[in-house]
Amino acid sequence: MTTDRLIIFDTTLRDGEQSPGASMTREEKLRIARQLEKLRVDVIEAGFPAASNGDFEAVKAVADTIKESIVCGLARANDNDVRRAGEALKGAQAGRIHTFIATSPIHMEKKLRMPPEQVIETAVKAVKLAKSYRDDVEFSPEDAGRSEPDFLCRILEQVIAAGATTINIPDTVGYTMPEQFGGLIRTLRERIPNADKVVWSVHCHNDLGLAVANSLSAVMNGARQIECTINGLGERAGNASLEEIVMAVRTRRDYFPCDTRIDATQIVPASKLVSGITGFPVQPNKAIVGANAFAHESGIHQDGVIKNRETYEIMRAEDVGWSNNKLVLGKLSGRNAFKQRLKEIGIELESEEAVNAAFARFKDLADKKSEIFDEDLQMLVSDEAVTQEREHFKLVSMAIHSETGETPTAKVVMVDGPDERKAEAEGSGPVDATFRAIETIVTSGAELQLFSVNSITSGTDAQGEVTVRLKKEGRIVNGAGADTDIVVASAKAYINALNKLHSKLERAHPQV
Ligand code: KIV
Ligand code: ZN
Repeated sequence: MTTDRLIIFDTTLRDGEQSPGASMTREEKLRIARQLEKLRVDVIEAGFPAASNGDFEAVKAVADTIKESIVCGLARANDNDVRRAGEALKGAQAGRIHTFIATSPIHMEKKLRMPPEQVIETAVKAVKLAKSYRDDVEFSPEDAGRSEPDFLCRILEQVIAAGATTINIPDTVGYTMPEQFGGLIRTLRERIPNADKVVWSVHCHNDLGLAVANSLSAVMNGARQIECTINGLGERAGNASLEEIVMAVRTRRDYFPCDTRIDATQIVPASKLVSGITGFPVQPNKAIVGANAFAHESGIHQDGVIKNRETYEIMRAEDVGWSNNKLVLGKLSGRNAFKQRLKEIGIELESEEAVNAAFARFKDLADKKSEIFDEDLQMLVSDEAVTQEREHFKLVSMAIHSETGETPTAKVVMVDGPDERKAEAEGSGPVDATFRAIETIVTSGAELQLFSVNSITSGTDAQGEVTVRLKKEGRIVNGAGADTDIVVASAKAYINALNKLHSKLERAHPQV
């Protein structure tokens, strides 16, 4: 059996960013893009350049920086979007324009209000324009899962003739069943006369929990590119998860006729980075990257694994990047050792000032915690990037009083733009009191939708990682913060979310 290459197209920075609250800044996108390059993904969809100037700049920065992966920009099938994508990708060593238009009866009639013939013309025109910027052009018939196969055959034959090099079949609303979706890919490949001129790709959403199964079924029917995201992040229930796709294909080499070029040891670091930046925690029982994915609780399982690991393990934790909480640095480590370790785990800070600031935070942390792990460094640098970027509000100091039988109180001192302000509040617990004190200063009126605490490493001296989700006037933002004191971590996360609300990072949605 020959082994084809399965192209991994990562859309964490585009579809992943469409998850409520997951908006990323240019710097955050760059950090994730560098990690995706280390992971050796083939294509990084960096964003939707026409969405906002911020996203244009982010795609441009990724295109100018990344050398080992193709950088892709999304564009609706119209002149402005395609031109913006072409301009953002100008500096890319290898760039791709991904243009799309909806093809299902319901989308064409109710959303686009276009007759099918006009949809075909619009798609062909967009592909031809994209071709004038880049040779590498991908076309997607949005909502293909609910489109008529006859119509798909007609439009796809024409966009291939117009120069598309990849045809991506999205199950936009996560509606199809694995056998049906695989059958659709087979039908299109068999019926479209010029089907052999392109790479067939799939993009599955997880509304019925079938995104990975549908993608893998498509692979068995000839798809050779999968669009996916780290941790399965994405619109609504998310996209197919990169880690599950990659490890399914690799673990079952006996079954799949293809493999990827992914460096699987970078999967867990990528998962942690994306979770830290977006503030989307990973559920403990998530395959591959969940904290329990390789933990054996029952005595029978533990006994089996001790006798022979393969009795209950089909993959090795270390192969996907779970380190044994390797001790990396301590209180006496110097600036050079710190910088070197950051480099080894793929973090390159942009300036010497940024290194100095991160090193100062490292020293503070090492005073509180004797052993510093890679996970701590990742979090410390995330925290640093966050505070450097959007600093309208900043925590200066805080004091908590919490005693059995007494009402907890919190005193908070914060920077609020040019001013330093103080407030004090009571609450049902120390976190509640802290949030109330902060709110006294900021008066955001935002609704707290989620508050979650995880420990970054093991041990009672571990840093707590807190995620806070706030909603205001229909906008949702996530904030993250870490500290050995979880009340301080909570304050940082809350302030991080408030800064995001304050920065009013607005962008258009590609599918609206
Ligand atoms: O889900 C979808 O249809 C998309 C397209 C833009 C590919 O994200
Ligand atoms: Zn999508």
